[in-house]
Order: sequence, then C-alpha cells, then structure tokens
Amino acid sequence: MKLNRLFIICAMLLAGVMLQSCCGGEATTIAGDNYKFQDGMIVFDEPARAAGQQSMLGFAAEPIPTVRVGFIGLGMRGPGAVNRFTHLEGVEIKGLCDLEQSNVDKCQKMLEEAGMPKAEGYVGPEAYKQLCERDDVDLIYIATDWIHHTPIAVYAMEHGKHVAIEVPAATSLEECWQLVDTSERTRRHCMMLENCVYDFFELTCLNMAQQGLFGEILHAEGAYIHNLSDFWDDYHNNWRLDFNQKNRGDVYATHGFGPVCQALNIHRGNKLNYLVCMDTKSVLGLEKAKAKMGSTEFANGDHTNTLIKTEQGQTIELQHNVYTPRPYNRLYQLTGTKGFANKYPITGFTFMPGQVPDDVLPKDAKINPHGFVSQAVKEAVLGAYKHPIHQEIEEKAKKVGGHGGMDFVMDFRLVYCLQNGLPLDQDVYDAAEWSCVGELSAVSAKHNSMPVAFPDFTRGEWNKLQGVKFHTK
Ligand SMILES: NC(=O)c1ccc[n+]([C@@H]2O[C@H](COP(=O)([O-])OP(=O)(O)OC[C@H]3O[C@@H](n4cnc5c(N)ncnc54)[C@H](O)[C@@H]3O)[C@@H](O)[C@H]2O)c1
Repeated sequence: MKLNRLFIICAMLLAGVMLQSCCGGEATTIAGDNYKFQDGMIVFDEPARAAGQQSMLGFAAEPIPTVRVGFIGLGMRGPGAVNRFTHLEGVEIKGLCDLEQSNVDKCQKMLEEAGMPKAEGYVGPEAYKQLCERDDVDLIYIATDWIHHTPIAVYAMEHGKHVAIEVPAATSLEECWQLVDTSERTRRHCMMLENCVYDFFELTCLNMAQQGLFGEILHAEGAYIHNLSDFWDDYHNNWRLDFNQKNRGDVYATHGFGPVCQALNIHRGNKLNYLVCMDTKSVLGLEKAKAKMGSTEFANGDHTNTLIKTEQGQTIELQHNVYTPRPYNRLYQLTGTKGFANKYPITGFTFMPGQVPDDVLPKDAKINPHGFVSQAVKEAVLGAYKHPIHQEIEEKAKKVGGHGGMDFVMDFRLVYCLQNGLPLDQDVYDAAEWSCVGELSAVSAKHNSMPVAFPDFTRGEWNKLQGVKFHTK
C-alpha cells in the first residue's frame, strides 16, 4: 500500500516536470546535453561574449595592398583555387600545404606555368601550423575535409591570419561558436567560401530583390541535390562518406542556404528563428557504406528536408540528397508578393503586370502572373539587373572559370576587399548561421522533427546592419 502511494506521488511529480517542460515557459535541462526544452522548442545554450571580444559586424581590416596567401588542402578543390589566384592582381602565393607531397607538387607546377615564384611546401597532418605561424602571410585559404576546417581556421586566426574556409566552415554548433569567438577576439576576418552567392543567376536575383522586383519575399527554397555515387571513392581517406555515415541532418546546406539568406537579409534586419527537419531512412548511403566500410548503420538519411521560420515571418525550405539518381539541383527559388524567381530545373521568372519597368521590357511584351515570362523578357530582365560586381568581372571570371566563373568572382571579391580595407561580403556570422544547420537539423530529426531554435551568433545585434552590401571603394 505504502509503496503504491509512493509510486503515485513520484508519477505525479514526474508528470508535473514533463508538463512544465513541454507547455510552460520554464526550461528543463536534459542531463548531459547542451540544450533544453523551452516553449515547445529545443534551445541550445548560447555562450555570453567573453571580455575582450568585440562584434565583427561591419569589420574592416587595414588595407593589404599585396595579399600574401597560404593554401591548406590541395585535393580536388584546392588546386582550382591556387589556379584562380594566379589570375588575380596583387597576390603572392607563399605556402602550399597538404597531406600528400604529390598534391603540393601539382600546385607548384601551376605556379611555375603562371610565371610565379615557387611557394614553400608543407606536408603532413600538422604541417599547416608552420604555415600559419609565418609572419609573411596575410590570408590562409582552407580546402581540407570538413573536420579540419575549424581547427585550422582557429589556429590561423590565433596566429594573426585572416581565413577563408571552404563549405561548411564548421561541423557543429561548438565549432560555429569557436569561429565567432576567435574572430571576435583576434579581430581577423573569417569568411566561408560560399561560391553560390556569386552565381550569375543568384546574384542578379539578389539585386532584383533589393530593388523590389519580387515585392515582399515570403518564401525561399534552396538545396544540395547532387548524386555523388560516382565520386565517393575520390575523397581523401574516404572522409565524406565517413562523415555522412556518422552524421544525420543537412550536413551540406550552405550552397542552397547562403543565397536565400542574403535575399532575406539574415542578420541584417532579419534573423533565423527556428527549424524543423524530417529525413528519410538511409538506403543508398547505407548500401555504399556497407560495401566500402562494412557499416551496418548510416546516420544520414537519403533525402533530408528542413523548414525554417524567420523573424520577419518568411519560411525557407532546404533539401539535401547526395545519394539518389536525380539531376543536379540547388532549387534557388524566391516567392514574393509581386514576383517569383526559380533556378532549377527551369530558370525563369513570374511577375505581376506593371512590376517590371517599361524601359526594361521588350516592345509588346505581355506579363502574365500565372506562368513564366517569355525568353525575351527573361533575358531583358537578367541584363537590366545584372549585379555591378558581375558587370565589372563577369568576362574575366568566365574565362578563368571555376563552376562557370562564380568561383573566380568569389576569390576576386575576397582579395579586392582585403586590398582595399573593406568589410568582406560574407562575415563570420554568415559562416556560423549557414553551417549550424547541420547540427540543428540532426537534433530536430532525432526528436521527431521538433522545432530547434537558431542561436543568435551576433548576440542581439542582428538588426544593427540593414540589408546585404557588397562594399566598393
Ligand atoms: N564550394 C564548392 O563548390 C566546393 C566544391 C567541392 C569541394 N568543396 C569543399 O572543398 C573541401 C575539399 O574537398 P575536396 O573535394 O577537395 O576533398 P579532397 O578529399 O579531394 O581533398 C581534401 C584535401 O585535404 C587534405 N588535408 C586533409 N587534412 C589535412 C591537413 N591536416 N593538412 C593539410 N591538408 C589536409 C587532403 O590531403 C586532401 O588532399 C571540402 O570542404 C568540400 O566541401 C567545395
């Protein structure tokens, strides 16, 4: 009898705690984790800004007339960057670092062919430290596997270097905060190399969005849908399949997410509030990992869907699928009150009549708000709203190449801003916001698609800057 009463009292107490944690405003901490349930949402702890750190919003460093750069990670992606830098004015390539001597040699050959002096070579897992410790290097450019991005970037910033990091810049929330805190403490730029924001369609659409062509944007979509079945074996030491085998969620979100965050002015008058994530089971990922690694489990779903709500009331949909047979697709879609842009699988626009200025429209053009505009209207609009950056550099970018030229536009802008002491196009808060989707979506999926709050990496300053700007002198 006594035991029964004790059981009932314990059960009531437990129910009370659960009710409070799910429905009430009060939070309940889950032992061992760095998040709590609050107002029906998973909320991660946000570390306070430490003494001696300062916001990096709008940060500009002293101009660096000749940018001296060291490259770390020279596998499939890195050498393309080295090659692009040989086409930029006012740069010196000081160091080349990789795990493999042959990759360093390949890039030395590129320098030789471009008539540039040989760089110092660094080979081995810790060799990047020597390169970062040099006092004649301004910028460290990182294109290693994902798990080395943040540790190398932090080391480089600690040694006084600006850093540019391939995508995603960080693989966890903890790493996102490390990048933010180190950049704020050392006053060094930390830019993620999100090249898709410089794509010719995306940047033109950003210009159109900023000029009101779409009215108020209500919904945006982005994706990384790329069947990697032919490429899994090419990654050094199988790092990519290994990472996906261990990690659930949208682990490669930034190509789709970055451009739509810019169109929605994230941390420039708007912010990301929360996400929910739902993924499929793993079939093809598991099949590949079973054959290649003997795995019996695979954390990453074959198709992962994430929905995000912003402070200004918009929604964003993201998709990730690197497994199934499908055409390449980054979606890139903007749905506004007066217009619509779509990149994949069909590039096109829809507008309300009267929305496109008459002097832009071809003679006798008809605008129908139920279908895509004609090819002639599309071309006229793309020409009229070409972004000033593209007007300046498109021709050379298309010649040098790199995903059709957008990679060169990115490197050109990075170096231009450093040379002229301007804020970079993408700051450390972009890097953290766009990268943190990996862990946040994994946690949501793990908890039956529960909402997960985005941390505010600006620590309350998301409304200080207004609108995305590409600075020029
Ligand atoms: N933005 C884009 O369009 C795009 C395209 C492809 C790849 N990427 C990114 O580029 C990065 C590299 O991808 P990849 O396809 O070249 O992979 P990869 O496996 O071909 O190359 C990775 C290289 O990093 C080197 N490396 C690893 N640890 C190192 C260390 N401690 N010190 C020095 N070098 C080290 C390896 O030796 C290897 O050569 C990834 O972050 C990937 O997401 C971006």
